[in-house]
Amino acid sequence: MKRLLITGGAGFIGSEFVRQAVKRGYKASVIDKLTYAGDLKRLHDIEKDISFYKTDISNKDFIEHVFNREKPDAVIHWAAESHVDRSIMDALPFLNTNILGTQALLELSLKHGVEKFINISTDEVYGELKETGQFYETTQLNPNSPYSVSKASADMLGRAYHRTFGLPVITVRPSNNYGPWQYPEKLIPVVILKALRALNNENEKIPVYGTGQNVREWLFVSDCADAVFKILEQGQTGEIYNVGSGEEKKNLDVVKSILKILGKSEDLIEFVKDRPGHDFRYSLNSSKISEKLGWKKKTSFEKGIEDTVQWYIDNIEWANSKFKNISYSKRNK
Ligand SMILES: NC(=O)c1ccc[n+]([C@@H]2O[C@H](COP(=O)([O-])OP(=O)(O)OC[C@H]3O[C@@H](n4cnc5c(N)ncnc54)[C@H](O)[C@@H]3O)[C@@H](O)[C@H]2O)c1
Repeated sequence: MKRLLITGGAGFIGSEFVRQAVKRGYKASVIDKLTYAGDLKRLHDIEKDISFYKTDISNKDFIEHVFNREKPDAVIHWAAESHVDRSIMDALPFLNTNILGTQALLELSLKHGVEKFINISTDEVYGELKETGQFYETTQLNPNSPYSVSKASADMLGRAYHRTFGLPVITVRPSNNYGPWQYPEKLIPVVILKALRALNNENEKIPVYGTGQNVREWLFVSDCADAVFKILEQGQTGEIYNVGSGEEKKNLDVVKSILKILGKSEDLIEFVKDRPGHDFRYSLNSSKISEKLGWKKKTSFEKGIEDTVQWYIDNIEWANSKFKNISYSKRNK
């Protein structure tokens, strides 16, 4: 399996996967619509090594042309509308891309006889946990936001194409990713950028939803891409793999650790009105990928967050060019 067709390869995690694909000697072709979240700058260091096609994954005619030309052995499907808050404002693009777009790719992958289709899902499809418990690959799906419903639908479509048509699908459910090149609408880059701006502007505050007690499991982006290579190369068709780091953190503690690295006061924190339907906690049991495939994360949260903060300092122009001051309403007392 040498020829990979990678969707969403100009996005945050997809671009890291493309970079690793080139390093590992794969022939990588990327398709990406370049929505607000996509950016070819993420691929600038390897642009000569890949083929790039700007298209919507729902554009079957164009993608058919890409399949005919590139003859991929495997499809790694990262493309998605990915931000929960946006899905609450307007669910339609999420349904179009994440559900209909995924179906178009599954259909073409079947027609062109790919050897593997890696369907990237998310831990959010399981719904939420309270203080205890974990999600296993066998846990029933219980998605709560328009985003997670669209991802659960895509996840189940992959299952159906495997079961009904024998398409060699493998489903991957990663936990929250962080690291270089993440679009500054997600928690970690927003906090880093706001904390950096607070240097020059006393009024800059750092918004934290609710009371900041929600728990996420933080996975460094290069570890996520590495796990997906493990699954591509050694995973079993028809199986599901959770990919987590075991690094569960309350949002408030994530914010505090960034402020500490930057030497900023915790007084910058401002609690804002909670996200509607905000899932309290996610926690993956990732023993299947570690025991069956021998995968382990390489990056601790401590090291990953330091490297991430440093990356945003070193790439502040890019980050500022993307950063829109999203307005948050103050928490109702
Ligand atoms: N970021 C996380 O923490 C996380 C965790 C678990 C799973 N995931 C999943 O991993 C994948 C990648 O996430 P990300 O954070 O890198 O997302 P991202 O938003 O940074 O990137 C998504 C990419 O998909 C492209 N895209 C969007 N709609 C498209 C369409 N209709 N046709 C073609 N391209 C399109 C965008 O241009 C962008 O380059 C997604 O499937 C997401 O659901 C992400």
